Amino acid sequence: MAAGNDLTDSLFKKIAKYVYDVCGINLTERKRELVSTRIGKVIRQKKLAGFQEYYDYLINDQTGEAVAELMNAISTNLTSFFREPKHFDFLKSDILPELVEKARKTGDHHLRGWSAGCSTGAEAYTIAMTLANSIPEIFSWNARILATDIDTNVMDTGSRGVYNMDMLKQIPPLMAKKFLQRSKDGANFRVKAQLRNLVKFKYLNLIEPFPLKGKFDFIFCRNVMIYFDRPTQQNLIDKFSAFLKPGGYLFIGHSEGLSAVEHNLKYVRPTIYQKK
Ligand SMILES: C[S@@+](CC[C@H](N)C(=O)[O-])C[C@H]1O[C@@H](n2cnc3c(N)ncnc32)[C@H](O)[C@@H]1O
Repeated sequence: MAAGNDLTDSLFKKIAKYVYDVCGINLTERKRELVSTRIGKVIRQKKLAGFQEYYDYLINDQTGEAVAELMNAISTNLTSFFREPKHFDFLKSDILPELVEKARKTGDHHLRGWSAGCSTGAEAYTIAMTLANSIPEIFSWNARILATDIDTNVMDTGSRGVYNMDMLKQIPPLMAKKFLQRSKDGANFRVKAQLRNLVKFKYLNLIEPFPLKGKFDFIFCRNVMIYFDRPTQQNLIDKFSAFLKPGGYLFIGHSEGLSAVEHNLKYVRPTIYQKK
């Protein structure tokens, strides 16, 4: 039997519940085709007989490998450099001058940003490029962009900082010249080491308590909450609020909103909020 043929209603529901419990991604009936295709691939790779055998493997696996494979298969990783560019304009024109002024007054050159649900890292490196372009001394600051995801494959790409040449056109040429180089094989481009060092990739499941110390000047969590239901979104917004410094900013995706959740954040402009 071809993998995918035995995805019964009951098995789909069981897998969807498992995914929801592990990472909050809400696989509605509309995602059935996606589940069938993506897990079908895992089934073929692992030479399993079908979805029933896959499900048994998933729930009995003690190594953590099956759940990691599932997260890697099920997550949607679409991203790009300078995606939703108004956010980076705001970072440059409003947030960074505030932080520079604060650093000048206090002598404390501490800056923390977070790309939560970072996929392959394009968002985190866009933040880093915006920082380094606006604040040339940033490399001597105590500055760090945390980039987190549940998909370990995409984070490997992020840590290497190597991207397909097609993505180069998303990056303004002057920034590309400053911060990027050709990869060794010449076929791709790579983020230069100095910029890579500003970004730290880490596995972090957003539905679990955050194992983090310290608070953030800004958090980008864009195009992640759309996969969550309302209770999961509420839980996430509560945690983000707790992890923002007073005056810190939260960016969400342009197709997302906070109208369905309760929060104490100040609305700044569409998809940008500030902790009071
Ligand atoms: C569509 S990408 C968004 C990437 C980037 N933020 C952007 O806007 O371009 C969504 C990412 O969220 C991640 N994700 C989904 N559920 C998650 C969870 N529970 N914890 C952490 N990351 C999660 C996925 O693995 C995926 O890489």
